[in-house]
Amino acid sequence: MARKKIVAGNWKMNMTPSQAVELVNTLKPLVASDEVEVVYCVPAVDIVPVVEAVKGSNVVVGAENMYFEEKGAYTGEISAAMLVDAGVKYVIIGHSERRDYFKEDDVLLNKKVKKAFEAGLVPILCCGESLEQRETGVTLDWIRLQIKSDLQGVSAAQVASMVIAYEPIWAIGTGKTATTEQAQEVCKAIRETIAEIYDEATADAVRIQYGGSVNAENAAELFAQPDIDGGLVGGASLKADFGKIVNYK
Ligand code: PGA
Repeated sequence: MARKKIVAGNWKMNMTPSQAVELVNTLKPLVASDEVEVVYCVPAVDIVPVVEAVKGSNVVVGAENMYFEEKGAYTGEISAAMLVDAGVKYVIIGHSERRDYFKEDDVLLNKKVKKAFEAGLVPILCCGESLEQRETGVTLDWIRLQIKSDLQGVSAAQVASMVIAYEPIWAIGTGKTATTEQAQEVCKAIRETIAEIYDEATADAVRIQYGGSVNAENAAELFAQPDIDGGLVGGASLKADFGKIVNYK
């Protein structure tokens, strides 16, 4: 089965609502593509204007985070239902910045993944090792542990529809991209883990992105790997370069 490539921008804590609309309008002609699914994961306050600004284009909107509870006294949090109602399709879950700065652990992330599916959102679940973990040779064990923990109680059909982003922490925002071989090795291991927990058909269907200093120069080689189905792009998603990444061929 041919998997459709998916290139998602992760805007992080950048772009005020008016800057966001300007960026969407600038990128609109550059990111047009029939072959690649294009997603902008934007700050919560930008969601409503960005959903409006991408109307009529090939771009769909994602959130950068959500909370797992239905509603209620969780000051500052945003529910899955709120995102769906605002027109959001994807939600990044477990980005390393959330895991690190905001102490989100796999128990919490598993709840978020399940809630996202329940509400009709598609999770982009992030995983990735630190430099220390890579240097001590535990990368693949660590990634398998993250995937298995975060997907507990998630069905094969749900996994088949979702996106997993492999983002080595040492490559995020550092300009130090993983080598094509390193990225492919881990993305393949993720697919094998899915086959092990579920089955071959699910592993064949799930889309796996690479993230970490993806840019207009390295995208083509990375996305040509058999187990890399696109990218999660931080810094370069805020520039015209994002169009080159989408149209990487
Ligand atoms: P980067 O960020 O492309 O700026 O390295 C990627 C990410 O954190 O998703």
